[in-house]
Amino acid sequence: MAIRNIVEIGSEVLRKKSKPVVDFDQSLADLLDDMRQTMRERRGMGISAVQVGVLRRALLVEYEEDKIVEIINPTILESMGKTFDSEGCLSVPGFYTKVERPQYVKIEAYDRHGKKFFFEGEDYVAKCICHEIDHLNGILFVDYTKAGQEYKKKKGVE
Ligand code: NI
Repeated sequence: MAIRNIVEIGSEVLRKKSKPVVDFDQSLADLLDDMRQTMRERRGMGISAVQVGVLRRALLVEYEEDKIVEIINPTILESMGKTFDSEGCLSVPGFYTKVERPQYVKIEAYDRHGKKFFFEGEDYVAKCICHEIDHLNGILFVDYTKAGQEYKKKKGVE
């Protein structure tokens, strides 16, 4: 396992759409292990592969203390309700803003062995899943709010 560098806002790669994982092989396992270690080291609660520069649809979410789910090729099946909570991102260090998210989501995804599973989350977990899935589509949480737009302008980044 190794700690990988986190790509920060302003880097083009964060705006690209990640491709589905097709090979559930050792390099995927290594990537997920590295993402886990990197997330821990940086004290994140979620991380997506693009944040370590890999444009594949894979992400991790810490859904309970010390419990991390590995989510590959996710599809949101259901979402309900609304929350409005503060968010941050390892790729946007030091900036937080409140973002509207669903209160509940249910997803379908694959594990590191290519086995399909379903996962659901509420509140913080739902928020985290949506934030990370956005990364796979080149979307950052700063895109959603006025404060976020101002942050990008101030920093001169997209
Ligand atoms: Ni993020």
